[in-house]
Amino acid sequence: MPCDVLRLNADSPEADAIARASRILLAGGLVAFPTETVYGLGANALDSVAVGRIFSAKGRPALNPIIVHVAAKPDAKKLVTDWPAQAEKLADQFWPGPLTLVLPKAACVPDLVTAGGPTVAVRVPAHPVALALLRKCDVPLAAPSANRSTELSPTRAEHVMQGLAGRIDLVLDAGPTLGGLESTVLDLTTDPPRLLRPGLVTAGQIQAVIGAIVSGGSIGNGAGPLRSPGQMVRHYAPKTPLEVLTDSRRRVADLRQQGLQVGWLTWRDFADAPAGATLMILPGDAAGYSTGLYAALHQLDQIGPDQIVVETPPNGEEWLAVHDRLRRATTRS
Ligand code: TXA
Ligand code: MG
Repeated sequence: MPCDVLRLNADSPEADAIARASRILLAGGLVAFPTETVYGLGANALDSVAVGRIFSAKGRPALNPIIVHVAAKPDAKKLVTDWPAQAEKLADQFWPGPLTLVLPKAACVPDLVTAGGPTVAVRVPAHPVALALLRKCDVPLAAPSANRSTELSPTRAEHVMQGLAGRIDLVLDAGPTLGGLESTVLDLTTDPPRLLRPGLVTAGQIQAVIGAIVSGGSIGNGAGPLRSPGQMVRHYAPKTPLEVLTDSRRRVADLRQQGLQVGWLTWRDFADAPAGATLMILPGDAAGYSTGLYAALHQLDQIGPDQIVVETPPNGEEWLAVHDRLRRATTRS
C-alpha cells in the first residue's frame, strides 16, 4: 500500500489536505495524524472493517482496546450510555486536551474498538489538525498511537513512517507534537474512579475537579479486554536495551570500558562525562522532558548503540508519566 505524507500547517491546516484525509477515512482507510500528545493512527470508529485494519497495521493484540477521538463533548456523549457528573466536569476542565475518559459504551461502538468489553475510552484532542479532521469527517475516529505494537510512540511524522510505511494510506505531517507522552487514561466506571495510565494531566489536577481517585490498573481475569495499558508487559519500548539508573555516569563509564557503544540520556550536564558515549540532554523540567523523550529515544535507536542508559529523572507528581513510560521501556519481553 503506497503511503503519502502530506505536509500541512499545524496552526491552520490546509483545507484540501484535510478533505483528502477525510475522504480516505470515510472510505475505510487509515490516516496517521498529529494530536497534542503523539501521532495517532486513525480509522472511522463506527466501521469495524476499518478498525480491523488498525489492528493489522500495528500488529496490535485484539484484546487491547482503542481510544476513540471526537471533536467535542456532545459527540462523546453519543458513544456512551452514561455520562456522570464527573465526566461533565472533567470534560469542561480538560477538553480539548490529553485526558481520556473510560465510560460504558453505547451500542453504536463496534466491539472491535473496545476489545469486546463494555466500556469505551474517549477524548477530544487539542490539536488543530486533529480537530479539523474530526470536524470534516463528522465521525468519531478510533486512533491508537501510530506505531507498531509495543514500540515507541511517534512524536514526528518520520517516526510514523519508520514503523508503518507501506501499511497505511496517508500521514498528515504537521511537525513535532508538543505533549510528547500519551494521554492520561481515567476509568469513570469504577467508584472511586481509577487512573489506568498516568499522563500529562496529573492525578492531582483530576482530584482538584472530582475528588479522590485511585491509581493503578485493575488486573482483569484474563478473559476480558485489558483494563489498563500497564498489563501490556512490554510497551513504549525502543529496540535498543534500555536501563534507568541514578548513577548513570558510572554505568556509562563501565560500559565504555567494556568497549560497548552507549546512548546516554540525561536531564543535566555532567562536567566529567565519559568519552565516546552518545550523550543527549533533555530539559530538566517535566514538560520539556516529556516533549523530547520519545524523539530522543527514536534518535538513539537510529544510531543503534548496544545499550541506552537513562539517568533517573527527578521525582514529583508531574514526573509520574515519565517514570511510568521509562519503566515499561525497560521491560524486554
Ligand atoms: O495520547 C494518546 O492517548 C494517544 C493519541 C493518539 O490520542 N493514543 C494512544 O492510544 O496512546 P493507544 O491505543 O496507544 O493507548 C490507549 C490505551 C491502550 O493501551 C488501552 O489499553 C487503553 O488506552 N484503553 C483503550 N480503551 C480502553 C477501555 N475501554 N478501557 C480501558 N483502557 C482502555
Ligand atoms: Mg500506544
